[in-house]
Amino acid sequence: MYNLLKGKKGIIFGALDSKSIAWKVAERAHEEGAKFVLTNAPVALRLGTISELAEKTGSQVIPADATSIMDLENLVDQAMKVLGGKIDFVLHSIGMSVNVRRGNHYTHQDYNFTKTGWDVSALSFHRVMSVLYAKNAMKEWGSVVALTYMAAQRVFPDYNDMADNKAYLESVARSFGYFFGRDKKVRVNTISQSPTATTAGSGVKGFDGFIAYAEKMSPLGNATALECADYTISLFSDLTKKVTLQNLFHDGGFSNMGISTAIMDDFMKDYENENVEEQKEKSKK
Ligand SMILES: NC(=O)c1ccc[n+]([C@@H]2O[C@H](COP(=O)([O-])OP(=O)(O)OC[C@H]3O[C@@H](n4cnc5c(N)ncnc54)[C@H](O)[C@@H]3O)[C@@H](O)[C@H]2O)c1
Repeated sequence: MYNLLKGKKGIIFGALDSKSIAWKVAERAHEEGAKFVLTNAPVALRLGTISELAEKTGSQVIPADATSIMDLENLVDQAMKVLGGKIDFVLHSIGMSVNVRRGNHYTHQDYNFTKTGWDVSALSFHRVMSVLYAKNAMKEWGSVVALTYMAAQRVFPDYNDMADNKAYLESVARSFGYFFGRDKKVRVNTISQSPTATTAGSGVKGFDGFIAYAEKMSPLGNATALECADYTISLFSDLTKKVTLQNLFHDGGFSNMGISTAIMDDFMKDYENENVEEQKEKSKK
């Protein structure tokens, strides 16, 4: 490996199990020489397998519900104590929609669920940065990254209210990123990742079709969780010091595609079959 994060200290939110994108980021950050604390909601710590990751990477786990300022304040204080100083990098890898979980259609949401999903998935990013900023916990030229999805810009009907949460999250990255950059020389970016088979991802209706379609549409194919981790490491490294306020697509080229030959071929097969059936029907009459 390249020692890209040698001597750096971080906080990694959102490793639930070995499929989690945050899990891969933790493994890669460890390989690149970083020290970090792992954190997740108390309930996730009970359900997931984070202790395995903690052991493997020599990290401490500090529980924090990202909707609680008190938990986040304790997390940041403890992290600086455990790591022995200010923080160089933070990964926000948190997402959850109660409407998606309960199967509520986008046009008919339970707004209490909407509020909870927004609080967990989007406002939490503001909250995390607000605590880091107030405590002056980030080192100069530090880096904060959150994960997002292209449904923030384009319509993916089954992504439901998570699309709105991601739009808010990306906006917070720009707005907070301005103040964090101006006042503390900290950069803030979001990575817009390909659909990836994880616990959060698989909750979206028709997710397998989603993944297969994106794979065929993207010239380089879908980006995996490990590839997302590699990209994240580059944003935590000193090689990207002046990259900030960006939403960075990490999707094999999907976001700039209109149509691919592979998708067109599939469409034409169906289209021709439909035409043959139509002709048969007509000739019967
Ligand atoms: N999987 C995909 O297809 C995909 C694509 C683009 C972006 N993303 C984003 O990547 C991020 C990570 O998701 P993932 O796919 O690795 O799934 P995941 O389910 O492994 O991770 C989501 C994490 O959010 C945590 N979380 C939920 N509520 C929380 C709370 N109140 N406090 C703290 N943590 C909480 C969960 O415990 C879990 O660890 C999310 O922001 C997701 O929207 C995922």
